[in-house]
Parts: sequence; structure tokens; C-alpha cells
Amino acid sequence: MTTTRVLVTGGTGRLGRVLVPMLLGAGHRVRVLTRREREPAPPEWAVGDLRTGAGLPGAVAGTDVIIHLATTNGRADVPTTGRLIEAARAAVAPHLVYVSIVGIDGAALGYYRTKLACEHLVEHSGLPWTILRTTQFHDLITAMCDVQRMLPVTVMPAGVAFQPIDVTEVADQLVTIAGRPAAHRVPDLGGPEVRDGAELARDYLRAIGRRRPVWSVPVPGKAVRDYRAGIHLAPDRAVGRITFDDFLARRYAR
Ligand SMILES: NC(=O)c1ccc[n+]([C@@H]2O[C@H](COP(=O)([O-])OP(=O)(O)OC[C@H]3O[C@@H](n4cnc5c(N)ncnc54)[C@H](OP(=O)(O)O)[C@@H]3O)[C@@H](O)[C@H]2O)c1
Repeated sequence: MTTTRVLVTGGTGRLGRVLVPMLLGAGHRVRVLTRREREPAPPEWAVGDLRTGAGLPGAVAGTDVIIHLATTNGRADVPTTGRLIEAARAAVAPHLVYVSIVGIDGAALGYYRTKLACEHLVEHSGLPWTILRTTQFHDLITAMCDVQRMLPVTVMPAGVAFQPIDVTEVADQLVTIAGRPAAHRVPDLGGPEVRDGAELARDYLRAIGRRRPVWSVPVPGKAVRDYRAGIHLAPDRAVGRITFDDFLARRYAR
């Protein structure tokens, strides 16, 4: 196998932390863009900032593939993605891989509109590109509960289901994509089960031993209406195998 030199932006995030060791295990040379100095060790760290452009020319230099996971949670994703593309175009035109979200076309949620705008930048970048859309990660459900940990109840939007997927399965697909030529939009990746949000929250709280009621609360607004309509679900692409309960059992087994 020829060694591919891969730059991962967001390699320290939820998905990136799992992806980077898998890429190394597959024999790739991996560099991770991060804003903070880290201990020197594989992967190679490139200190830089997508908001300012600092460190980007060095980070992209000599790479065959860039897997772009970094996100500012929507606040600056369009300019930061644009800046990465500019740096990549000035280098050797690597294959740009972008991870996006199922159901973002025509969605009202600001973050989804931003992801769609980033997809357009990637598609028109002039670089070889691949876009993989996935459903929500299991960790997003636990994060939705954790932000409410100081409250006496956990609230979930009524009538909203999720189809969460394990980051290891997304990472596995990205390792495959990194070893192949650019493929444009590849089939969406969905988790194995579509389940009510409040039910998922109850399972999580039980798994971590946090005792409190979960309330399904009607939430107004176009963004939540989209979620109730299930735009973020891909039941025909339920290809993930690790269920939310499997994920909880692995992570919180005593
Ligand atoms: N979470 C989900 O449910 C979900 C579902 C589908 C798709 N996605 C997509 O998957 C991707 C990864 O999501 P995630 O949840 O793993 O992300 P995350 O945990 O929020 O991590 C964000 C990453 O972005 C990097 N970053 C932020 N600002 C930066 C800047 N100015 N310059 C350089 N790096 C910067 C951070 O690196 P440092 O702090 O080291 O600088 C960090 O590694 C995102 O594109 C997201 O939209 C997520």
C-alpha cells in the first residue's frame, strides 16, 4: 500500500480523536491542525488557526488528502472552510474530504445552512472532493443532556426522534474514503435505529446513574418543526451497527 499523507482539521474533536489513530493504524502519515501546542508524538501536529489563516500553508504542504472536520459550531465555518480551500489550492491540490450532516438542504437551522454553504464551497473549490453526510453522533445526544445537568429535569423537544451513529463507524468510512480517489457526494451514513429523543435521554441518564425526570416539551419554531418532520433522519441508510445502548454499555460499563 502506498502511504497517503493526510491532514486532519478538527483532529482533536469528538470524531477526530477517533479518526486519527485509525488513519495511523491504516498506515497513513497523519498531521493534525490544532490551535494549541501539543506534545510531539504521532500524529504530527501543525499549529494553526483557520480563523486567521496562521500556520495554514505549512499545515497543508505536502498532503495528499485533507479531511476537514474542524467546526466553529457555525459561527465562522464558511470563512474558515474558504481559507482552508485557498491554502490547499496554493499547495498541491489535495483531495478534500468534508463531513457534513444528513438533511441540511432547505433546513431552517442556522448551523445546517452554514454546513450547506460549506458544501458548496467544497464542490466549487477546484480541488478533487468528497462529501460524506452523517446523522447525529451518539455523543451529541449525551451532550444535549449534559448541558442541562444543573437543572432538576432534562428536557427534550416533543415529537423529535434521532438516528444517532457511532463516531467509530463514521471514522471507519473516512479511512476508506482517504484511501480512494475523490468521489463527490457519497451515500449518507445513518445510525442503526430511529428513536425518540426523550427515550434516548432516559437511557443515558440511567447509564450514568443520574436520577431525574425527562420531559418531552413542545418547542415552537421552524427549526424544531424540521426535526419533527425528520429531515435529519436517513432510515433508508441505517447502515451503522452500533446502537445507542451499545455505545452507552461500552462507555459507561462499570
Ligand atoms: N456532532 C455531530 O453529531 C455531527 C453530525 C454530523 C456531522 N458532524 C460534523 O462532523 C465534524 C466534526 O464534528 P465534531 O463534533 O467532532 O467537532 P468538535 O468536537 O466540536 O471539534 C471541533 C474541532 O474544530 C477545531 N477547531 C475549532 N476552531 C478552529 C480554528 N479556528 N482553527 C482550527 N481548528 C479549529 C478544534 O480543534 P482545536 O481545539 O484543537 O484547535 C476541534 O478539534 C463537524 O464538521 C460537524 O459539523 C457532526
